[in-house]
Amino acid sequence: MISNNILSFAKSVICEVVEPGCIGVDATVGNGYDTVFLSEMAGSEGRVFGFDVQEQAVKQTEERLNEECLPQNWTIFHSGHENMLELIPAEFHGLVNVIMFNLGFLPGSDKTVITKSETTLVAIKASLEILAKGGMLCIAIYAGHPGGDEEDLAVREYCTGLDYHAYRVIQSEMVNKPGYPIRILFVTKL
Ligand SMILES: C[S@@+](CC[C@H](N)C(=O)[O-])C[C@H]1O[C@@H](n2cnc3c(N)ncnc32)[C@H](O)[C@@H]1O
Repeated sequence: MISNNILSFAKSVICEVVEPGCIGVDATVGNGYDTVFLSEMAGSEGRVFGFDVQEQAVKQTEERLNEECLPQNWTIFHSGHENMLELIPAEFHGLVNVIMFNLGFLPGSDKTVITKSETTLVAIKASLEILAKGGMLCIAIYAGHPGGDEEDLAVREYCTGLDYHAYRVIQSEMVNKPGYPIRILFVTKL
């Protein structure tokens, strides 16, 4: 596999754990690209839940999903991902196969609306609860913007401290990228 983009690399890893009928969560829908990816992977028998605090992102994602003529397997919540335990119906808890976080701000939008370490950590802990055994959490972390370095450190510190007997955590980074780093954490629940 050749990838010139770390996010497409992340998707190729996710493809290893998802199959038709899977349950996915896009914790930061933004422009909806990751939600479309999850909806396609899940197919008509699967389910996808999405979250974003920006109304514009929710609308954009719903429009994109409709344009792509994907099965109606998705529900997008105009709410922070920190509320996922309450908003994702309990019948899906423990059955979720993949959860994607793409942190930071939405490119081309209001750069002051960013994910924040405090709520991101609440959402990551909730994600670990609702993941199925063998399920994967994929977190794309951006440093460099105001608040980004703090979130990058907090998320990596939390994930580095996860019990090795319960989770496996792999970090990936395009190390020759100029400027600020983008890191991906893959957390697998054993
Ligand atoms: C980097 S963008 C996501 C890009 C998106 N995955 C895509 O494919 O276009 C980050 C998104 O996180 C959203 N966000 C910020 N705080 C959030 C929160 N507490 N819960 C959910 N989304 C949040 C922002 O509104 C923004 O749309």
